[in-house]
Amino acid sequence: MDNKIVYEEIQNYINANLNADLHALLLKKSPFPDISMQEIVQQIKGKQVAQKKFPFLLKEGIVFPPQLNLEQASSEKTAEYKSQILKGKTFIDLTSGFGIDAYYLSQNFDEVTLVEQNSELLNLVEHNWGVLGRKAVFINQNLEDFLNSNQKHFDVIYLDPARRDQNRNKVFLLEDLSPDILQIKEKLLSISDQVVIKLSPLIDLKYLLSVLPDIFRIEIIAVKNDVKEVVIFLSNQEKGAIAVNCINLESGEPAFEFTFEEAENSHAAYSEPEKFIYIPNNAILKAGIFNLISERLGLKKLHPNTHIYTSDQKINDFPGRILEMKVIDSKQIKKKEKFNIISKNYPLKPEEIKKKYQIKDGGEDYLIFTQSKKGKIILKSG
Ligand SMILES: C[S@@+](CC[C@H](N)C(=O)[O-])C[C@H]1O[C@@H](n2cnc3c(N)ncnc32)[C@H](O)[C@@H]1O
Repeated sequence: MDNKIVYEEIQNYINANLNADLHALLLKKSPFPDISMQEIVQQIKGKQVAQKKFPFLLKEGIVFPPQLNLEQASSEKTAEYKSQILKGKTFIDLTSGFGIDAYYLSQNFDEVTLVEQNSELLNLVEHNWGVLGRKAVFINQNLEDFLNSNQKHFDVIYLDPARRDQNRNKVFLLEDLSPDILQIKEKLLSISDQVVIKLSPLIDLKYLLSVLPDIFRIEIIAVKNDVKEVVIFLSNQEKGAIAVNCINLESGEPAFEFTFEEAENSHAAYSEPEKFIYIPNNAILKAGIFNLISERLGLKKLHPNTHIYTSDQKINDFPGRILEMKVIDSKQIKKKEKFNIISKNYPLKPEEIKKKYQIKDGGEDYLIFTQSKKGKIILKSG
């Protein structure tokens, strides 16, 4: 790899321009004869993204790839979480990309292999791993070709298929991913005990189970209530019920683990709102385990289509938000007051509610517009 970009004077220029207007910078002439302004701006964008997404890379000597590779990379937080679940002797990431997942997920393994079809990207990852003091075998190959010639067994195979088609539209069916998991699945399972695949948060869980009967575990990973990843674990060994774990990182909320069998056989209890109101986090909503939340936690649901729960006695171990609320009459809402407005299973959206009642966003108090079995209701906190 040509490492001129890491020269001290160039890095100083990059660091001095971290908050610069990048469009204006691109119109300027590069102060360095061998480095273009595009290359400099690529490094500035990389550092800006790294500040939020992978701060462990804010180190001297690290080189950043083009924007698409930054976007496709996992965040340090989700990668670190996944690393806690995996350990063994041999690990291979067949879609290395910028190598964020590989860096974390391979921490508990002795031998690490990275496969990536994009040679520039892989060279850059190899350089960065050298800077970070991590060893791996770097293979610049199409993974299908690699699998055809490979004779080795791996304890864990990891894949994070590229989720954009050639028009760079987001796609969510397995067939539209690169690689197509359904095409290579048998091969993967023949050389590994465990195949772990990261998928889009928008992928449908029922669809996944119907096309991949080898799934034995699913992790639904949210960060601050934003579902980021659905990670599936495949094995061709005898397996029992499929375990699913919902986690909302950086929220302090407990994880919630269940089996699909348990979810299918669960029943909800119903009630009009009591003292405490519970709103499940988005990982739970993605799992769609509305009856199980009621049955397992002893909470009552407001309505079959309202995924809000209630109880008289507070339970603290809830995977979501807990609010103390009262049912109010709409006449009690004063104009110009500030509220955090939530609309669930209610005909009006928050924007429409704001207009109708002439209220504003913000403040400490919550208003929930929803439906119980008796009909439309408004709940107010405080
Ligand atoms: C979503 S990115 C992986 C990001 C990575 N997990 C990370 O955290 O940085 C997918 C990568 O897979 C690579 N890829 C896609 N299809 C491939 C194939 N058939 N063979 C090898 N690499 C492939 C792409 O070039 C891309 O860099």
